[in-house]
Amino acid sequence: MPSSDQQSIHGQWSSRWTFIMAATGAAVGLGNIWKFPYLTGIHGGSAFVLIYILCVAALGIPMMMAEVMLGRRGRQTPVNTMRALAAENNASQGWQLIGWFGTFAGMLILSYYSVIGGWTLGYILHSVSGNFSGLNGNGASTLFGDFVGNPFVQVGWHTMFMIITMYIVARGVKSGLEKAVTYLMPALFVLLLVLVGYAMTTGYFMKGLDYLFTPDFSQLTGTSIHTAMGQAFFSLSLGMGTIMIYGSYVPKSTSIAGASIAIAVFDTMVALLAGMAIFPIVFANALEPGAGPSLLFETIPVAFGNMAGGTLFGTLFFVLLLIAAWTSSISLIEPAVTLMIEKFNMTRWQAAIWIGLATWLLGFGTAFSFNIWSEATVFEMTFFENLDYLTSNLMLPLGGIFIAVFAGWLMTKDNSQDELDMKSEVGYSIWRILIRFIAPIAVSIVLLHAIGVY
Ligand code: PFF
Repeated sequence: MPSSDQQSIHGQWSSRWTFIMAATGAAVGLGNIWKFPYLTGIHGGSAFVLIYILCVAALGIPMMMAEVMLGRRGRQTPVNTMRALAAENNASQGWQLIGWFGTFAGMLILSYYSVIGGWTLGYILHSVSGNFSGLNGNGASTLFGDFVGNPFVQVGWHTMFMIITMYIVARGVKSGLEKAVTYLMPALFVLLLVLVGYAMTTGYFMKGLDYLFTPDFSQLTGTSIHTAMGQAFFSLSLGMGTIMIYGSYVPKSTSIAGASIAIAVFDTMVALLAGMAIFPIVFANALEPGAGPSLLFETIPVAFGNMAGGTLFGTLFFVLLLIAAWTSSISLIEPAVTLMIEKFNMTRWQAAIWIGLATWLLGFGTAFSFNIWSEATVFEMTFFENLDYLTSNLMLPLGGIFIAVFAGWLMTKDNSQDELDMKSEVGYSIWRILIRFIAPIAVSIVLLHAIGVY
């Protein structure tokens, strides 16, 4: 019988704080600093931001509580956790599919995440070499264009990023991850504040704030709502078992609700700060807010290139971004690696190597999407865009619906109440309404619209 008095065979966090830091490390990554600003730019600013925040509050937080709760009760890789919980709650063994589905989604995401992680590695080198110095918007665009235009360079950095990710995963979550996140996440936060400080000197800070926060509903479309919801899942790492597996390492005494709220708030603050740093630079340098995936890499170098001590700060920024990407990439692949260990009796090293190789190969498709395959489109999207759409906009929300239904409808009230162990009865009731009704219905409505059912 599942019981969170047991521990996972893969380890346990030393404290509530390490769990919050590790889950924040998984949540805060390229999604906040690279993806959130460029999606905001593509979807016209404030309306997207507002929907995003709503999704985090009404769907993200209850979903995160549900995932941590399932993980802590199951104490295994998501596939086996779902199997154990299905048995405990007399539900069909088919629920294991949630675990398989999420594990696969994690590999798909990492295959492209690693290419972008490679960009941060490449940009550390650019920064150290002083290549940002005196750069204007045009110069930054050219620098980026040359960088992504070269398929060998792309594969090279992608390979490096995969190696550093799989190395930590092979060594085990506890020894590698805990130390890295406890100091480096706060450092990244401070550096973002420095960037926001720079943005205030551009003369376009208020314009940036206005763009992000003065609601303009004329920009709101079905697609932007769908993308904002997908981004909330992506940014909080929900719907695919990552948070479930981190939950399986959570000590029994930790308050799940408190920790989930803290993680979501922190994650959202990082995304908003990134937006507040980037958009003033965009406007001050006549860059295009809707530039897409290049946005971060075309704005930040301009800021550092024109700031005193820019080489040092610029390098530091990309190093910290690398670390944020790294802690997320580890979490993306942890479900697949633990699955191989539990199902096929592999050692951690063997599992990391096999899963790493498969993911690395798939990543070539993304590495080439910005050069030799940039014209090769399906549904008018490149390989990278298709993969991103499939995972963030379809797979994670779908995974989320099933997780919500399981946590809200199949897990008995006694079990969820026992595991969440909330001080406030009202708080528990609100959670239960959100997870039983609001989350599955809202996500289904958006998904059905996206696939053209109505
Ligand atoms: N949340 C990460 C980010 O915002 O960069 C990406 C991610 C990590 C998504 C882990 C999903 C996941 F399971």
